[in-house]
Amino acid sequence: MPAVAPSPADLDVSAVRAAVLDWYDANARVLPWRRPPGSDAAVDPYRVWLSEVMLQQTTVPHAKPYFERFTARWPTVSDLAAAEDGALMAAWAGLGYYARARNLLACARAVARDHAGVFPDTEAGLLALPGVGAYTAAAVAAIAFDRPANVVDGNVERVVARLFAVETPMPAAKPELKRLAAMLIADDRPGDWAQALMDLGSTICRPKSPLCLMCPIRAHCAGRATGDPERYPVKTKKAAKPHRQGVAWVLRDGQGRVALVRRPDKGLLGGMLGLPTGTWSDGPPDEAPPSVADWRDAGAVEHVFTHFSLTLAVRVARGEGDFDWTPEAEALDALPTVFRKALERGLGAEDPLEPGSEP
Ligand code: ADE
Repeated sequence: MPAVAPSPADLDVSAVRAAVLDWYDANARVLPWRRPPGSDAAVDPYRVWLSEVMLQQTTVPHAKPYFERFTARWPTVSDLAAAEDGALMAAWAGLGYYARARNLLACARAVARDHAGVFPDTEAGLLALPGVGAYTAAAVAAIAFDRPANVVDGNVERVVARLFAVETPMPAAKPELKRLAAMLIADDRPGDWAQALMDLGSTICRPKSPLCLMCPIRAHCAGRATGDPERYPVKTKKAAKPHRQGVAWVLRDGQGRVALVRRPDKGLLGGMLGLPTGTWSDGPPDEAPPSVADWRDAGAVEHVFTHFSLTLAVRVARGEGDFDWTPEAEALDALPTVFRKALERGLGAEDPLEPGSEP
């Protein structure tokens, strides 16, 4: 019976690796950017890179349809490089962190222009691409090119924090967790290893209620031996998110189109289409509408960003003006989530000019 290691240096690394890889062989999630575990079929670095960028900000189920749409529309990195900025931003709508979409395009263009459409096959070469950070470079090097790179995402951090019962609270523990994760990598099946740890973290070693009885490395796990594995990674108490308020203006032309604006490149939701909206601040909004019209109240929507939560009052009117007039169905697809929610609310509100509605 393997025992919990009293210290990291005593961990039976090869037993842990074998148990995790065997578990992965039987339990790997089938995902559109993956090859089956253990297979040496070629994987397309473009698909790996694209999936990794998408997965940095959202869950696998949410990313999947985006991945399918992107690869159907832009099957190669050179196709993506030739996409128009606006088309890419619209296709990204709903994934969040819109600066990433711009980085995505910058990277695709660099691969197309400077590398003849072929991704560099080393971690250092990948890291030199615009918009590619340490995580993405390691993930693509391991998964697409089978390089023994240290791929550490939130799932891997949690598995490692529990395996070694790391008491340092997050985020200060990050460098320590990275060092501990590095102890586990080897030349054998680096891509499968990275994805095995991710799958273990998301399906077994879950943030809440980990399924320790099903875990292939439970016998080695110091976190489990403490009786409270869920405590790891140890958290620091978070300050509450600030709350802001604003107004989203839903101006319709009566012919099925809605007024949108292109947001400035810099800042939140930079470069995306949006509804006209003023400043979001911590008091009740008091701002002039973007055009003179008979504005009606349509309630409010809530949205939570990384750094603050937002209540956006929705006002609707019929009118005209110098805007990016967009068919409503198209706008619902192209807007980032916060504005899509506001537009849905505005479109669901009673149209002041429809017969039967109150004046
Ligand atoms: N999360 C980030 N990258 C992933 C991958 N390749 N497979 C599963 N989950 C992931």
